[in-house]
Amino acid sequence: MNVNADSLCFWLTLRILATPGLADRIRTETAPHVHVTQPANVLGLAEPPRLKLSLAGLKAECPLLKSCYFEALRLDAAPWSIKHVVKDFVVTEDEKHAPRGGGGGGGAPKSFALHKGEYVHIPHDLHQSDPAYFESPELFKPDRFLVRGQDPDGKPNADMGTIRPYGGGVSLCKGKLFAEGEVLAFVAGILALWEFEPAGANGWQIPGHVKASGVSLPKTNVRVRIRRRKLPSST
Ligand code: HEM
Repeated sequence: MNVNADSLCFWLTLRILATPGLADRIRTETAPHVHVTQPANVLGLAEPPRLKLSLAGLKAECPLLKSCYFEALRLDAAPWSIKHVVKDFVVTEDEKHAPRGGGGGGGAPKSFALHKGEYVHIPHDLHQSDPAYFESPELFKPDRFLVRGQDPDGKPNADMGTIRPYGGGVSLCKGKLFAEGEVLAFVAGILALWEFEPAGANGWQIPGHVKASGVSLPKTNVRVRIRRRKLPSST
């Protein structure tokens, strides 16, 4: 809540702002679910703006925002899962999804025997940055996780695909849904209330990562100029 999800709010906001035109596309998509009003001043004292969000709407009706959220998880979260093997089993590479076969050589898919009592360590960022699964994995692509659903009007859905930044199995992250709500609400709310521009002459710069427990921390500060967006008056 205040170690991983809040850091992801930073990365997602920054990556949206650094992609030309994307902040406005997301403001348009989220507008029906994010209501900001400016109450009139009382006795000359400025009132703070009011923000009302529909979390259900952000989760179900905003595929572009959700696709960007998955993309920020893919790029900026490097969590680990550690599992204790309780019975012997064999994992075999999937030919279709691991076309390099044999761990990069183009040979037959490899198999790995795992034995009861051993531990398995899964560093999720290896998969999340694998070009066999993600074209130009170093790039932030807002629509990478958009898929065309059954919807007759062709409206896309956002699907997490093969990434598992919240782990899996019995120790699957218990805050997965809370974290998703926190990130979507904060980022939609921040974009609805504020305008940002980079403070330096070099435009938007994405800092490098400092590895942390789940979501990475930025290596350097990001300096921005922030101003209130012009808000509709509630009176
Ligand atoms: C972007 C944010 C977050 C990420 C990337 C994340 C990631 C993870 C991962 C990878 C695991 C281990 C899963 C496994 O063993 O395979 C985990 C476990 C856990 N997470 Fe999160 N998490 C996030 C946010 C949260 C939040 C907000 C909460 C609580 C409100 C939370 C509570 C937990 C708990 C309790 C576990 C241990 C579950 C168990 O062992 O049964 N997480 N998380």
